[in-house]
Amino acid sequence: MSDRVYIFDTTLRDGEQSPGATMNGGEKLRLARQLEKLGVDIIEAGFPAASKGDQEAVAEIAAAIKECQVAGLCRAVKADMDKAWEAVKKAAQPRLHTFLATSDIHMKYKLNKTRDQVLEIAHEAVTYAAGLCPNVEFSAEDASRSEPEFLARVIERAIAAGARVINIPDTVGYAQPQEFGELIRYLLENVSNSERAVFSVHCHNDLGLGVANTLAALKAGARQAEVTLSGIGERAGNAALEELVMAMNVRKDFYHLHTRVDTEQIYPSNRLLSMIIGQPIPPYKPIIGGNAFAHESGIHQAGMLKNSQTYEIMTPASIGKSGSDIVIGKHSGRHALNNKLEELGYYLNPEQLSQVSEAVKNLADRKKQIYMEDVEAVVLEEIYRIPDKFKLIYLSSISGNMAIPTAALKMEVLGEEKQLSDFGVGAIDAVFNTIDRLVERNPKLLRYSVNAITGGTDAQGEVTVKLEENSVTSVGRAADPDVIVASAKAYINALNRLAKKERDPKAEQSRNIP
Ligand code: KIV
Ligand code: ZN
Repeated sequence: MSDRVYIFDTTLRDGEQSPGATMNGGEKLRLARQLEKLGVDIIEAGFPAASKGDQEAVAEIAAAIKECQVAGLCRAVKADMDKAWEAVKKAAQPRLHTFLATSDIHMKYKLNKTRDQVLEIAHEAVTYAAGLCPNVEFSAEDASRSEPEFLARVIERAIAAGARVINIPDTVGYAQPQEFGELIRYLLENVSNSERAVFSVHCHNDLGLGVANTLAALKAGARQAEVTLSGIGERAGNAALEELVMAMNVRKDFYHLHTRVDTEQIYPSNRLLSMIIGQPIPPYKPIIGGNAFAHESGIHQAGMLKNSQTYEIMTPASIGKSGSDIVIGKHSGRHALNNKLEELGYYLNPEQLSQVSEAVKNLADRKKQIYMEDVEAVVLEEIYRIPDKFKLIYLSSISGNMAIPTAALKMEVLGEEKQLSDFGVGAIDAVFNTIDRLVERNPKLLRYSVNAITGGTDAQGEVTVKLEENSVTSVGRAADPDVIVASAKAYINALNRLAKKERDPKAEQSRNIP
């Protein structure tokens, strides 16, 4: 059996089903390009039947990506498969990924079908999909809670009908590593035509075992792993790409497996995701968190100084985390900036480059050293921000223990300039109150967090804000060396996203899989 593992990234589909992780078409395309650079084998770009917006985003990604297969998810029904094929057919390497539940509980309560009916539907669906696309993946939803003998029969039928990849999802994160490995071994041995398909796994993280189950399955002979960046996904998420890949990488001696992933793109990819969805990477997150390479205890620090391998099983450089690299100075020209941007995977047109160069210069006036993360924050801010209904023009704020916190703002609201001043219990509260009155809205603030992008008191503050109004939620993000300005921009960004969701509810409709 080959020791090559195929990495199937579903950040743009299952990952996007994570609360607060919705992305617009431009953001999805940007992330898909980064996944291509990261070296994943398959990008699951979305679920085209879920909404018009999803269908368009998948088609756009399919047309742009050349080095990876691009998959579209579809239920085992013709209308879904047609939509998915329509969306992926222009890809250099298209894939249709169809799924059908096989556990007794799903068949009875969700599908209202008998085992024989499910066998028939699987056969018909894969036959139909294979008539559209030569590269078909079949997923037996809730496989880990399905009766193994029946599961083996469904898989046999799917392979006979033309499925090239068979995916065994642990849909509800119920499996245990040893048991899941045994299930894969059982299927490989008992499905009579198993050698005609690549076996894949897709593990959810409800019990925190997504990566462990995936590794156990790979040990047992599965050769495709379905993962997401940072492990985002339904409920507790999916197996995290960075953890899985680095486990195979650091413990080559144990797994004897390899992937095509360029591990030095792991940190930039996760960082880009975090910027796009407006959710900071938690400091304690394995591999990519801020503390993953920090050594606090004196004994550890002393050991590290003598030999880094005393307490480090991998280097920050191996995941592309440069940490303190100063990338650009006040006097760096457009050419140097462009080179740096291309290194980070941002290919801008001359107009966008001028816009970013201007913003980086403004930042360099206020901040001594500009790091890779600062430049990325500027690009996200300038280029990938959704078109604004509300814009900040000017902000001044007064606070302190002897002053009533006051904010004065000038904004563009639906093309009209407006200004106002208001109070609050603190500076941020005053700013948010003033914005609410200027835009005549009253959303509920569900979350507010500030993160320092780099070190030092002049570091850019990265603010994330989550709002809710009329049962619609949105996340906004912004960065600025002044935390109050960053907070205002993040709040306005969240309001713009809220307004966009209201204008285009279909695009934002939950991508829930029925
Ligand atoms: O979790 C799951 O079962 C899925 C399938 C659609 C692959 O996401
Ligand atoms: Zn899933």
